[in-house]
Amino acid sequence: VTKKYENILVELPKPGVGLITLNRPRALNALSTALFVELNDALQNFDNDDSTNAIVLTGSEKAFAAGADIKEMKDLSFSKAYNTNFIASWSSTIPNIRKPIIAAVNGHALGGGCELALMADILYCSSSATFGQPEIKLGIIPGAGGSQRLTALIGKSRAMELILTGKNFSGIEAGQWGVAARVFDSAEDCVQGALETAGKIAGMSKISVRAAKEVVNKSQDTSLREGLDYERKVFHGLFGSQDQKIGMSAFIEKKKPGWSNE
Ligand code: HXC
Repeated sequence: VTKKYENILVELPKPGVGLITLNRPRALNALSTALFVELNDALQNFDNDDSTNAIVLTGSEKAFAAGADIKEMKDLSFSKAYNTNFIASWSSTIPNIRKPIIAAVNGHALGGGCELALMADILYCSSSATFGQPEIKLGIIPGAGGSQRLTALIGKSRAMELILTGKNFSGIEAGQWGVAARVFDSAEDCVQGALETAGKIAGMSKISVRAAKEVVNKSQDTSLREGLDYERKVFHGLFGSQDQKIGMSAFIEKKKPGWSNE
């Protein structure tokens, strides 16, 4: 899983935890197609790897990602964008990753960088992080969920204001508005915090971690009634796992569960 790539770094910093660091420093981690292909490959490898149970995605202290690569997009025509289904790679893999992804956002998370951060299951940031959807200033609009995920998170009026003016919002605001689950004082603390949370998740049963991610995500695009039914069915299904027996027996015997992941 820790393959060498051109635009990202991939590590296994602690048991069960995969770490992907966006690494195009000279372009502030602008999300070129080449970078995204590598990111998808690394995520897929972690998802397929039996020893990984949670993934942390981060950038540098200066930039999580300053957006889609403007140099790559500048001369793109409508027909080329349409015919090649430009940026389809952004939604080909990430929505299908079954292990939790925690984004640790420091520095700029702009345009596609903000959208990528919003694709994570848990978002942590530092107070000095800068989020925004500045696409309007380039004569375009968000294209990878900014108008959808951000609006669902922060409400229509705030999202409209941000997307129509292109103004940024801070890491502190991200915390206040519920975009970020936690806000840290420094970039280092943010990455450490994400790794700690990933480590905790990695200590749970893989089956219940996958199921938990699946049911929470279900709530994002279904009615409450359907979501509740879905949750209950998945909940019932877990009584067919060994890990349910292991987890509950360990509680009663006051022991630490030794998950079988079956
Ligand atoms: C390509 C980028 C880039 C980007 C920065 N760079 N952002 N290259 N695409 N999105 C490059 C710069 O051209 C420059 O390269 C180098 O990174 C350093 O950037 P500077 O601007 O010199 O740094 P700084 O003065 O610190 O300003 C940082 C910044 C600014 C405020 C983040 O770079 C900026 O505004 N970037 C663009 C942000 C943006 O508009 N993002 C949205 C993109 S559209 P050189 O070669 O000059 O040294 C988008 C659409 C998504 O994301 C739609 C769905 C995919």
